[in-house]
Amino acid sequence: MPASPAGQLRSIAIGVTDLDAAERFYNDTWRLETVAKTSDAAYLRGAGSFHHILALHRGSRPDVRNVTFSVATRADLDAIAARTPAAGGRVLSGPAPVDEPGGGTAITIADPQGRILRFVHGDDRHPERPQRDAPGRITHVVFNSADVAVAQRFFEEALGFRLSDRTKIMAFMRCNSDHHSIALADSDANTLNHIAFVMPDLDAVMRGAGRMRDAGWPIEWGVGRHGPGNNVFSYFVGPDDFVIEYTADVLQVDDSYKAGGPSDWQWPPGRFDQWGVSQPPSDRIKQAQKTIRFTEL
Ligand SMILES: [Fe+2]
Repeated sequence: MPASPAGQLRSIAIGVTDLDAAERFYNDTWRLETVAKTSDAAYLRGAGSFHHILALHRGSRPDVRNVTFSVATRADLDAIAARTPAAGGRVLSGPAPVDEPGGGTAITIADPQGRILRFVHGDDRHPERPQRDAPGRITHVVFNSADVAVAQRFFEEALGFRLSDRTKIMAFMRCNSDHHSIALADSDANTLNHIAFVMPDLDAVMRGAGRMRDAGWPIEWGVGRHGPGNNVFSYFVGPDDFVIEYTADVLQVDDSYKAGGPSDWQWPPGRFDQWGVSQPPSDRIKQAQKTIRFTEL
């Protein structure tokens, strides 16, 4: 597969209204680990090698500050900078050194619908630390889009993403062997749909779901197995109503993967996953999936 300059999805930075409570939740219950702190932010790693996969910023309202990819070469930053304006986006800053934990050199851009995307090269890494019940990394972020065709074109033309599957409501986009790193959902606004953290296996998803229930966070959708991507899922509404997913078994693809269309991905009435065991998404998650925006520039 021709390499996308986007590399790998590394981290998401979000604004939270109670930084201490959010940090406690993502450490103690969600099983990430704080690796750096400032007076207004906490940076949390997973079991994988990325310096951090989640950055929590003190804020007056929940929002998304950026989604960051780790790119393979310094030249990828220049390629993205060159391709962004022609594809309808804007370069906001860089390439320049990153002034926060994890370091590296980054370019920050806005896509045509106002999502802030950052691409970093030479950022710090940790030794991997496989753990039975901890997320390794973020495997995908799903955005709602007021016009999926516009967003899809930008991810293809500026960032080299490819369409893996298109359902009636969602375009699944890949930039490496993961079936999707980004998905774009048809909606009436450009908001965050959810963030997916990959667990080692199905059992870890199940144990994580039990841990969440024990801590007072009910399963809002799942446990089930998706169609596109074939991944198992369990969704929750976390602090500040961020929708977060434990997932596992994400389909790995290469150039031979044939993109499916809406008619290939239809469930019979009343079915919401491959197994046929999942309840439908709760009203609460459907509401939460529409509320959080990117920080306005
Ligand atoms: Fe997901």
